[in-house]
Amino acid sequence: MTAPLPARNLETPGGRVLVFANKADASVAAARQIASTIDAARTLRGKACIGLSTGATPTGVYRHLVELHRSDGLSFRDVSTFNLDEYYGVSPAEEHSYRYYMHQHLFAHVDLSPNRSHVLDGTTPEFAVDAHCAEYERWIELDGGLDLQLLGIGRNGHIGFNEPQSLDLAKALALRTHLIYLHPTTIEDGARDFGGDASLVPRQALTMGVATILAARSILILAFGAAKRPATMRALFEAPTMEIPASLIQTVRDRVVWIVDAEAID
Ligand code: F6R
Repeated sequence: MTAPLPARNLETPGGRVLVFANKADASVAAARQIASTIDAARTLRGKACIGLSTGATPTGVYRHLVELHRSDGLSFRDVSTFNLDEYYGVSPAEEHSYRYYMHQHLFAHVDLSPNRSHVLDGTTPEFAVDAHCAEYERWIELDGGLDLQLLGIGRNGHIGFNEPQSLDLAKALALRTHLIYLHPTTIEDGARDFGGDASLVPRQALTMGVATILAARSILILAFGAAKRPATMRALFEAPTMEIPASLIQTVRDRVVWIVDAEAID
């Protein structure tokens, strides 16, 4: 498939925004961006390190990455991946875990080594959470840092599970991987994956922090559909605040590309 072209290309306070006619074209463009980052990193330092996200948004991106692997020679052999987040209290073996999601959508279909795909462990006992989160940070560092972090945006403006809150900007920008309580909007939206029953959605999650995310050498953030438009517009144009965590991306705007569909932006 030839690379789809964006219908619009905007420079905003939140970074460059490529607006595609629809989610399918946007997903292909995002997959190609990831593939070319992998190629460039491999050329530069012999390996690539990619941060991944889950949810409804990136499923088409993973589908196209699998296609690029099958028919276009894209290899994950020397790639490490680090997922953004994982539900706390959920075992990697459970179908609601993000580990399971990644297995279904990407890991099982490409030549990524199992020991190079990292997802936070939702079964870590509470006393060991800080050590586990610090270890995760250390693994990313040992791999040379993230070449690209893929993000979605929550309806409430969250990135990873860095939820909206009134927190001093400097403190927000210093957040590393940690355990959080999910925001009511996140629980409401998560119900979709739990048969529509919000009471079954875990209340806590482990997530990379804002600082972990913003340290990536490039950030690719996706926003699809009208439900994401209010948070996307605020993240792009309002002054950075932890009330809209995605707005903190403005602080590294030169390293950011937004790939959105026409419904997600005015
Ligand atoms: C998922 C993640 C979340 C989602 C966001 C959007 O790993 O970190 O921030 O990207 O909640 O979710 P969807 O794509 O389901 O609308």
